[in-house]
Parts: sequence; C-alpha cells; structure tokens
Amino acid sequence: MAKAKKIFVGNYKGGVGKTTSIYQIACHMVLQEKKVLLVDLDPQCSLSEICLSRIDWDLYRLNPGECLNYIFDAWIQKKMHLNLEFPVDKELLVKQTGEGIDFIPSNIFYEGGGLDELSILLKDDFDDLFVLQQFFQKTGLDQDYDFVLFDCPPSNNLITQGAFLLSDYYLIPSIIQTVSIRGVAHYITTVDKIYLNICQEHRHSSLARLLFGERPQLLGIFETLKKGTVKNQQVLLDLKEYLDAAEVQCKLPEGTYFFHTVIHNYEEIARATAAGNRREEYASLAAEILNCLEGQG
Ligand SMILES: Nc1ncnc2c1ncn2[C@@H]1O[C@H](COP(=O)(O)OP(=O)(O)O)[C@@H](O)[C@H]1O
Ligand SMILES: [Mg+2]
Repeated sequence: MAKAKKIFVGNYKGGVGKTTSIYQIACHMVLQEKKVLLVDLDPQCSLSEICLSRIDWDLYRLNPGECLNYIFDAWIQKKMHLNLEFPVDKELLVKQTGEGIDFIPSNIFYEGGGLDELSILLKDDFDDLFVLQQFFQKTGLDQDYDFVLFDCPPSNNLITQGAFLLSDYYLIPSIIQTVSIRGVAHYITTVDKIYLNICQEHRHSSLARLLFGERPQLLGIFETLKKGTVKNQQVLLDLKEYLDAAEVQCKLPEGTYFFHTVIHNYEEIARATAAGNRREEYASLAAEILNCLEGQG
C-alpha cells in the first residue's frame, strides 16, 4: 500500500464540530473500505473517549505505552538520557474500534503530563517539530492506511505545528458567522506562516522540506452546526473574496473553497457521536472529501 494521505483537521475556534466531524467522516470512509487511522492531538481527548467507548475501554485503563503522550514523553526523556532507548510498540499504541477505524488515543491522565504540558516541555528546538514525522518514519505506520486524520486542538504549539507540517492536506470545519469566519481566514494565514517559517525561511529549511514534504494544501472548508434560520450567504461571499485575494490554493475545483454538504445543528448528531454511532448527515460530506482526495474533483 502507498503511504497514507495525512489530513489535519483544525480551526483555532473550539466547539465547531471538529471531533464530531472527524469521527463521522472516518465512519463513512471505512464504509467505503478505506483504511483510516485517527490521531488525537487534543489534550482534552474527546476523540479518544469516543473511540475507546466503542470497545468498553476508558482513559484510566490506558497503560503509558498506549497513548500518544508516550511518544512525546519518550522523545523528551531521550534528549535528557542519551543512552536510553524507549521502545515504541505500535501494536500497543494503535487501537481498533471494531468497525474498521484505527486510532491512537491521547490521555489527559498520562503520568508524564497531558499533551498540553508535554508541548511546553518540548524546548522549542527545530528538531522538536519532528516527533510525529520521526514516529511515522520509524514505524512505517502510514504504509498501513489510506488516510491518517489528525484531530487538532485550538492551539498553536510544537505538537500541532509538527502535525500540520507532516500533513498533505488540511480540512477546516467552521460555523459560518462573521466572527468564526474571520477565524478561518486567520487560521489559513497562520498555518501558511508555519510552513513558510520552517520550510522556506529557516536556515535548515531544505532538511525540513526533505522530511515534511510539500506544503499542506487546503482540501476545503465545510459548514457545521448550522441553525435552520440563520442566513449567511454574505458571510460566505466575503470569505471567498478574502481567499481569492490571498490566492489560497484549495484542492476543490477552481474558485471553490466550500464543500456542498452542510452539517446542521441536530442534537441527534451529538448524541449518536458520543455513543460512537454513524450518522447519515455525514455520508455526502465523506463522499465529497473522498472524491476530492482521489482526484475526481
Ligand atoms: N451537528 C451537530 N449538531 C449538534 N451538536 C453538535 C453537532 N456537532 C457537534 N456537536 C456538539 O457540539 C459540541 C462541540 O463539538 P465538537 O465536535 O466536540 O467540537 P470541537 O472538536 O471543534 O471542539 C459537542 O458537545 C458536540 O457534541
Ligand atoms: Mg475537539
């Protein structure tokens, strides 16, 4: 199998349906017989909890080597204890929901600290950006999947930056209101700056490009949590104008930045996702994303 396409799902605004969407998109991707790995980068671990609940498991019962925190902790420890090797057992780290979704959980209760604490312990060194890249390179884990989806917290630290740089594409779920849409524009500018700083302007940028590859491309934006009565056509036009002017490269057909599918605000979606169940509202979004990824526009 070729290397998985890696997709970073993010928005600096919290509560826009990122985690819900990632889980639902993955459910529909596996229905289409795609092999999917979810990686939870959010210290709050919501995605991990949803996935673990499918196998009647929970965060308290995860051993240290069974969560993403361990990968970052081992990296930090290795820097302090040069002679020690910290084994990584991908069989332990990668869990299965039983419905074909594989996932790497993060754990807020990890004894060495949550992902937010570990991101502070990383020293802001250039090489600290490569923890995930080195992990995938060493384990070859991405050879086993069609897609790897990263659930990103609304923060910009070395962990999220490293995941972004490693990704081929990124997806932005957003509520479409004036304020949240400004957040989308800001997000695109920020992630672009990260790439520029590390892969073009840094004194080791050629090394970064070698390990991270091409600049991650915006796959598209999709609207979430839409309330029936809200009219937002003008907000969408304003954003499109901004993106056109900023010459943002998007994988969707020329001049389009939005997927057609709109996810409405339905309590049932929240309830079903918390129980790990698939919802049909996401079928057409997943199909659009797959079409886009597989080059059929
Ligand atoms: N389409 C939806 N309709 C109703 N509630 C939703 C929907 N999508 C998400 N939610 C709820 O909104 C809250 C935020 O969603 P979540 O996916 O956790 O967002 P994020 O990961 O961006 O913080 C959660 O309580 C979730 O259950
Ligand atoms: Mg979330």
